[in-house]
Amino acid sequence: MKMRVDRWLTTLGVCSRSEGKSLIRKGGVTVNGRTVRAPEETAETETDRLTVGGKPVDGRCVRHVMLHKPGGLLTAARDSKQPTVMDLLPPAYGSIGCMPVGRLDKDTTGILILTCDGEMSHRLLAPGRHVEKVYAARVTGRLGEAERQAFREGIRLSDFTAMPAELEILEAGAESSLARVHIAEGKFHQIKRMFSAVGHEVTRLHRERFGPLGLDPELPEGAWRELRPDELAALRAAAGMEEGGGPGEPETGEAERVPREADRGTDDE
Ligand code: URA
Repeated sequence: MKMRVDRWLTTLGVCSRSEGKSLIRKGGVTVNGRTVRAPEETAETETDRLTVGGKPVDGRCVRHVMLHKPGGLLTAARDSKQPTVMDLLPPAYGSIGCMPVGRLDKDTTGILILTCDGEMSHRLLAPGRHVEKVYAARVTGRLGEAERQAFREGIRLSDFTAMPAELEILEAGAESSLARVHIAEGKFHQIKRMFSAVGHEVTRLHRERFGPLGLDPELPEGAWRELRPDELAALRAAAGMEEGGGPGEPETGEAERVPREADRGTDDE
């Protein structure tokens, strides 16, 4: 995207706008090897090569990330009291507006997508889109056919009835069981509440898949990487944003939200 060079530096979190102007006037910034002399000069953020003070700077303002969320971090863009998933990324990702797509509870682990593309994020979370998520859940007690049937029929919760979900029982023991759950919506504490409604407490929850993307087995907890072009294309297709396609149908309804500090009231962590 085309952007003024002083604004580019600020967007990347390199320095303030006034520091940027002064740095540029002093000859400290190059674009494609040429020294920029005026702050109002423009550059192509995704393709032009930027250096500041002689050091190369990654100038891309559109980035998409797959993160293996560890337990103990909030899924929020920022929080003044507790660490968030953003603390795992270099500060530039936050500066350019890379944000989690939806949220995982503080104790949930697994795949989390972060993107600067607000439109894609909104579409992926829109209730009408039914993007599938797959979780592995360790729960108390023995799971059996009754639970499988209840999930398949759609579990009634206090404020809504969950859509039919697939429950694969991987291990069933007297003390605890392990299951894989496929859901196509993403309400607050949904998996924990669904199990609770059938008499089981979730003691460990891990998201294995978000839409078309499975968690990269090469990513240990806390690690992240940028999405490959094929993964981004698959995600955009899941969001109804295929290349060359029309604008798609408008999205309506309440989407799963990433709380910022101010509206984290629904988060029980
Ligand atoms: N459902 C939950 O209960 N928690 C999560 O983190 C995600 C889905």
